[in-house]
Parts: sequence; structure tokens; C-alpha cells
Amino acid sequence: MAILDVQDLRKTYRKGKHPAVDHLTFAVEEGAIYAFVGPNGAGKTTTIRIIATLLRPDSGIVRVGGYRMDTERRDVRRLIGFIPDEFGLYGEMLVHEYLEFFAGCYGVVSEKRAPMVADLLELVGLAHRRDDAVQTLSRGMRQRLGVARALVHDPVLIVADEPAAGLDPRARVELREIFRALQEMGKTIFLSSHVLRELDDVATHAGIIEQGRLVASGPVDEIRARLRPHRRVRVAFHGPADDAQAWLAGRPQVLGVEMVPPGNRNGGPPALWVTLSGDEESVVQLLAELVTAGFPVLAYAEEQDTLESLFLSLTQGVVT
Ligand SMILES: Nc1ncnc2c1ncn2[C@@H]1O[C@H](COP(=O)(O)OP(=O)(O)O)[C@@H](O)[C@H]1O
Ligand SMILES: [Mg+2]
Repeated sequence: MAILDVQDLRKTYRKGKHPAVDHLTFAVEEGAIYAFVGPNGAGKTTTIRIIATLLRPDSGIVRVGGYRMDTERRDVRRLIGFIPDEFGLYGEMLVHEYLEFFAGCYGVVSEKRAPMVADLLELVGLAHRRDDAVQTLSRGMRQRLGVARALVHDPVLIVADEPAAGLDPRARVELREIFRALQEMGKTIFLSSHVLRELDDVATHAGIIEQGRLVASGPVDEIRARLRPHRRVRVAFHGPADDAQAWLAGRPQVLGVEMVPPGNRNGGPPALWVTLSGDEESVVQLLAELVTAGFPVLAYAEEQDTLESLFLSLTQGVVT
């Protein structure tokens, strides 16, 4: 079931201007980690603010868990944990007070607040900073505190706008692990980013937005398959690869073979790029044939497209 359903959303900030969000339609399945990616100004924050019920669209409907964001706003808010791109921090407050404060805002009864806050601090790796002032936290820690804050009412859908922006690589990895843990707890995660690398290895689904329009949406594997109907395998050999190259070129399922340039091998063994028709089965089959034919295969690996390369092939936008 789609936990988030966005139908024909449209928003123009100023008359006569290009719409910030233009007939946007997509759905996010329960349990997904959905990466909403696009260059700066593409309309990500606008979309997210509409989903979070903070901004009204000109037209279109968002449903969260079946509830409409316009007529059932309270239900939508109950189901969503929103992590904005920037939020005011209450710097003087202690970390645990900060979370207790928000738990109170969401109506969590006072006896439950302290144990819940302890659990949340544990989850986001801030238990050791419980009694420190919020303003003493590093950027990465504040971002994690923001995640904890979004979880105080136990939402089913976490919506985060550029959560990894400005974090160092280590802090980014830590944040990613938290999102993975939340997914394992059964939550659905919707994350935006203009930097593809941030979400590449965590996303199960992606939506790619450019100038307010969606250019692709779905499981990362499907987007990949659609853009790259052929498979590419890198085969390395013990010894020269020329015979193998000639032999491979004659196989019916092989569409092309080329030598991997020595410069790309870092002094490693000779290797070939093989382009194949067919599915995974065809990739497996070819290895069996190579080995049966007596070629000394050292390594055999299918090329993995990154989300970034997919994004670049879909858009003209600049990715940093
Ligand atoms: N409050 C606003 N008033 C006028 N224009 C805005 C406002 N917020 C965003 N925009 C414009 O809408 C477009 C989409 O912006 P935004 O949703 O913030 O994109 P993103 O988050 O992908 O960078 C941009 O052209 C931006 O300049
Ligand atoms: Mg934004």
C-alpha cells in the first residue's frame, strides 16, 4: 500500500512565474526509503512543505496513510515526522529537555516522556549528551537530535528535507544508519537531496525532480533497468585477454566487448567490458561458458550504476 500518495500537485509562488511544482504525481510504498532528488530550485522543499501540511498547493491532493492533507490535516500530522531543512534550535535547553518539551507539545503524557526520551537518545546515539546544552552539539549531532524530535509522536512516515546537507562524511554515515534502523522498525522514510551521493546506497526507491516536474519515480532497480536495458560485466583474466575477447565477440548474447584501458586497471590484470543482452540469468550463463571454455577468469562483476549516474542521464541539472 502507498503510505504517501501525491496526486497532480501544483504550486506557483508568483503569478506569471514558472511553477515551483508542476503536476507532480507519485506514490511511496510502505517500508521504502525514498530518495527525492533534484538540483537546487527543483521544487523539493515546496513539495515537502505541502506534504507536511505547512503550505497549501494551488491544486492537487496529498494523502498520507489514506488521509487527505487538506481536510484531514490533524491525521496527516499525526502520521508524519517532519525534519525541516533548517529549524530553530533552543540552544540553552539541555538535550533531554528539548525532547521532553516536544513530546509535551505532541501530548505525550508526562510519565511516559522520560523513558521515551531515553529510548530516542539511545536510537540517535546521543545518550551521552543528554545533559548538555543543545548549542554545544556538533552539526551532525543536531541533525540527529532533529531526527529524534521528529519521532516523539511515533510517526509512520519520516519526511526529511536535505538531512545530510553540510554534514561531514562520518556524520552522514551515522545519519544513514539511523534511517536504516528506522526502516527496520517498520517506518517509511522520504528524504530529499540535491547531492546524489548522500542517498546512493541507502535508497530503495527514488523520485527524480527537475524544474517542478518528475522525470522518474519507482524502485531504484527499475529506474536502472529502464535506463540501461543492457547489462555490462567486467571480466578480468589471469594472463592475456585477447583470445577471450575474440571468443566473447562470437557469443550470440554478447553485444559488444572492449578491453578495459590499462589506465583504469591500476596495474591490475587484463580485463574486458562485456555488454550483454538478456537478464541476470544471461550474466550467470556467460560466466559458466567462459569457465567451461577454459578461460582463466580472475574476477567477474556486473557494473553497478550509481543513482548519480542515473540522475545525470535523466536530467540536465547540475549535480554537485
Ligand atoms: N517562498 C517563496 N517565494 C517565491 N518563490 C519561491 C519560494 N520558495 C521557493 N521558491 C521558488 O520555487 C522554486 C522551487 O524552490 P524549492 O522548492 O525551494 O526547491 P528545492 O528545495 O528543490 O531547492 C525555486 O525557483 C524557488 O526560487
Ligand atoms: Mg530545498
